[in-house]
Amino acid sequence: MAKVEVKVCLGTTCFVMGGSNLQELNDIIPQKYGDKVELSAANCLGLCSINWEYSKAPYVKVNEEVVSEATVEKVLEEIDKQLGN
Ligand code: FES
Repeated sequence: MAKVEVKVCLGTTCFVMGGSNLQELNDIIPQKYGDKVELSAANCLGLCSINWEYSKAPYVKVNEEVVSEATVEKVLEEIDKQLGN
């Protein structure tokens, strides 16, 4: 089965808008999914600059799916969905 790729944006906009809370994923994801999920960080996914004022940062990408106003719960939910759990 293909791995689910998770990219957490740690760019400035996302970080100040709550991305710092997403660091918990570094512990949760390997524990919960083992090697089924590959986690990486991005400097800026290029999403914050579209309509900055209404930015829904922080952003996380789960494969091609963008999770906006991301929280740990929302990201885990999207991973489960993509894994078919
Ligand atoms: S800083 Fe996260 S998308 Fe730009």
